Amino acid sequence: MLSIVILAAGQGTRMRSRAPKVMHLVAGRSLLEHVYIAASRLRTRRIHVVYGCGGDQVPKAHPNMDVDWVEQERQLGTGHAVMQVIDKIPLNDTVMVLYGDVPLITYETLEQLEEASHESGLSLLTCVLEDPHGYGRILRDERGNVARIVEEKDATDAEREVCEVNTGMLAVRARSLKHWLDNLDTHNSQGEFYLTDIVQMAVAEDVEINSISADSPMEVHGVNTKSQLAEVERYYQLIQAHQLMGQGVTLRDPGRFDMRGDLEVGSDVVIDINVVIEGSVSIGNNVQIGPNCLIRDADIGDDVHVLANSVIDNAVIGARSRIGPFSRIRPHTRLSEGVHVGNFVELKNAEVGEGSKINHLSYVGDAELGRDVNIGAGTITCNYDGANKHKTIIGDDVFVGSGTQLVAPVRVGDGATIGAGTTVTRDVEAGALAISRVEQRAVKGWKRPKKQP
Ligand code: UD1
Ligand code: CA
Repeated sequence: MLSIVILAAGQGTRMRSRAPKVMHLVAGRSLLEHVYIAASRLRTRRIHVVYGCGGDQVPKAHPNMDVDWVEQERQLGTGHAVMQVIDKIPLNDTVMVLYGDVPLITYETLEQLEEASHESGLSLLTCVLEDPHGYGRILRDERGNVARIVEEKDATDAEREVCEVNTGMLAVRARSLKHWLDNLDTHNSQGEFYLTDIVQMAVAEDVEINSISADSPMEVHGVNTKSQLAEVERYYQLIQAHQLMGQGVTLRDPGRFDMRGDLEVGSDVVIDINVVIEGSVSIGNNVQIGPNCLIRDADIGDDVHVLANSVIDNAVIGARSRIGPFSRIRPHTRLSEGVHVGNFVELKNAEVGEGSKINHLSYVGDAELGRDVNIGAGTITCNYDGANKHKTIIGDDVFVGSGTQLVAPVRVGDGATIGAGTTVTRDVEAGALAISRVEQRAVKGWKRPKKQP
């Protein structure tokens, strides 16, 4: 069977961050989680993750990963990292070593690496790079067989000319690996236990070594700096964008689209520039999303228009609704069908019935609105008394005039009308008009105060 070891103990000093390197995000998922997702598609006995720098931050940040967490207290090298788990792996298993900071590795490549390992004693994943700087180099003999791996820091000038690099990922029988690990030493420029030294040991014992190469250099691109993190992010975003376009989504500019999570889409969806999708989002058929929108954990029905600069977070938007421009839909909001929410309107924990409209400058929080309700400009649900939140419940076909305050808890019955500028403090009966206004006075010939000299 296959056991996988993901090395994730390094600090990643060059990231210049307090967070351990593998916790940095690409498309909303940690570097480590990307590797885990690819690895967990293989049939494995167990996935072990070696962590260390940053203590239990790494396991704590990944509560949903079904792995064996193994601590490496001091980071004495990649060989030392694997030593921490080798005794947990049955000797007849194949061990695949992966790196927690190489996030774009694909399942397909890992599958090839596993297959290659059935045909030899040790399989390496290598890659030919235009600029091999920083990587360990694969040194081959006259017949093209792998002879050893030399780290950049230990390499001669001639060896540094080699462009085939060690990605670090390999697959090997546990029994041999254990035996080789027992013989590693730290006689190298970094004073570390190099996992790569097992290659020379295999050669010395006439163990056959084969290698496969990654399809694209990006797949084996390690993340060591914030610049590399950004490169990987952009590359991954473009892959996702092209997948969506393959499903028929119109992206006005795939270079200005970001998806940090999962998106399920219907047909004829058009997404304008600078839209960010986060978490788990589903979008129905014939939906248009305008520029500069953030949509997180939302369910958007068919024929919805989301206009520019709107934020939708943890909400359900019913079919044929129109949101924005400049709307903010906050968590636990559910809009029924054909609802209109316009500019500078904030909804929070609100249920809005079919055909209702809240078009301008309003706050509706902790509220239930029936169908065909019209909320006038500048209406506020006063849901918070400084200590507790209270509900506003509005029936069907209610007309709320502009500049109304609804002081919750309060109920407005079906068909009621609220006059503009009213402060509603008591329940309003169905069909009634509620109005609270100070009578208008006129002071004739009023002289405005003048600025004092
Ligand atoms: C390693 C390889 C090098 C290869 C390169 C590819 C060795 C000796 N060298 O070098 O041939 O080209 O990766 O990226 O293996 N880690 C631990 N514990 C440790 C040390 C490292 O868990 O004690 C983890 C790191 O978190 C990281 C991975 O192992 O995920 C690689 O470590 P890193 O120090 O980046 O290796 P390189 O020196 O780049
Ligand atoms: Ca190192």
